[in-house]
Amino acid sequence: MTASSSSNGGNGGGTWSERFSEPVSQLVKRYTASVNFDQRLALCDIDGSLAHAEMLCAQHIITEQDYADIRRGMAQIREEIATGQFTWSLDREDVHMNIESRLIEIAGDAGRRLHTGRSRNDQVATDVRLYLRAAIDDIANLLKELRLALVNLAEPHAATIMPGFTHLQVAQPVTFGHHLLAYVEMFGRDAERMADCRKRVNRLPLGAAALAGTTFPIDRMRVAKTLGFDDICHNSLDAVSDRDFAIEFCAAAALTMTHISRLSEELILWMSPRVGFIDIADRFCTGSSIMPQKKNPDVPELARGKTGRVNGDLISLLTLMKGQPLAYNKDNQEDKEPLFDAIDTVTDTLRIFADMATGITVKPEAMRAAALQGYATATDLADYLVKKGLAFRDSHGVVARAVRICAERGCDLTDLTLAELREFSPLIEADVAAVLTLEGSVAARAHAGGTAPEQVKASIARIRAQLSAS
Ligand code: ARG
Repeated sequence: MTASSSSNGGNGGGTWSERFSEPVSQLVKRYTASVNFDQRLALCDIDGSLAHAEMLCAQHIITEQDYADIRRGMAQIREEIATGQFTWSLDREDVHMNIESRLIEIAGDAGRRLHTGRSRNDQVATDVRLYLRAAIDDIANLLKELRLALVNLAEPHAATIMPGFTHLQVAQPVTFGHHLLAYVEMFGRDAERMADCRKRVNRLPLGAAALAGTTFPIDRMRVAKTLGFDDICHNSLDAVSDRDFAIEFCAAAALTMTHISRLSEELILWMSPRVGFIDIADRFCTGSSIMPQKKNPDVPELARGKTGRVNGDLISLLTLMKGQPLAYNKDNQEDKEPLFDAIDTVTDTLRIFADMATGITVKPEAMRAAALQGYATATDLADYLVKKGLAFRDSHGVVARAVRICAERGCDLTDLTLAELREFSPLIEADVAAVLTLEGSVAARAHAGGTAPEQVKASIARIRAQLSAS
């Protein structure tokens, strides 16, 4: 066999090349193949190949005719994939060799020339970066949708009072709008992390070839520009071997899911009949096969559980990369499943949460009733005494004694008469009444970042402006 006809893009004939004297065993073929999971890179692989071919042609490494044949072949392959007619073969190991082999069937010698000046090592790194870049853009949009949905939910509740908790015990009154905006902030930072990670994803490995570069007069910046990369990877060994960009993405995805899991936990708690702060629309809940009364918040519970998957994906990739010598090692083929799993999980979860946020009914009376329990305005009374001249530590003691008495009697601070309150401190006067109300408590926290309704409204305006500018 001549060099040009010996291989149709890999081990399609059973042996890898003339270097081998026997075909790979069936078991090894199955073990080493990635086509079952990397075929989702197909369109990125085609885009990368077309950009490479365009550059090869511009640099006179292949002819105009070759380039035209490659374009025609790739258009047909794209069509075959889109219509489900493309035959994926385990014999051709991975997405790259499946597509290249088919191209050779369609375009002949032009197809055989496509792999000039590149290797699957820089090819796969390029494909994964293209795929991840698009996934990050989707995720950024979904984070925006979710933030918007939460802002829309928060807006009518800028003044709705609920208990704020520390240690899951009633701490101080807050507004429900303020509480929701805490998550909007978290998801905002998640979006920033995604955008930052995208910068490092968006660099072109192609041209690094197997590891050392190529002897052909390639123009890497041209390929980078065609594919929308901001820059090239500047060291060929690094370009083909590191997967830090995927690890970074998984770390950002794990944090996003961590935030989702916190929100999930609260939704579950709030929806519990014992708390009853919210209801979640039936389309997001399921029943029990045995207990007819049940309406379970399955979506937030599953999301809380799926957070573990993404943490696992991150640890898989970190462990995969740890201790790998330069340059490419086959270990790196194992980057795909965890990365795809993290992408799928965070994408699906954000999509369903953005939708579910529009299906939440708020029950302000239940929130208010809960805020009235647990001495939520005790800190306000302490602050009041400080404003009347007492040192904070002393006022803390005064209020603690008052709370203790209330706890013994089974009443609230507001149930004490002025005379009774004055027994704890003569500084207490008639104006204390306003301080002890829930409305007075939240309204008094009117600085930037505080829970006062006016601050919640200001935050909503700021976030809306941010969202429409991005
Ligand atoms: N399927 C391989 C991967 O995902 C492509 C690169 C193969 N390179 C190699 N030297 N065997 O990493």
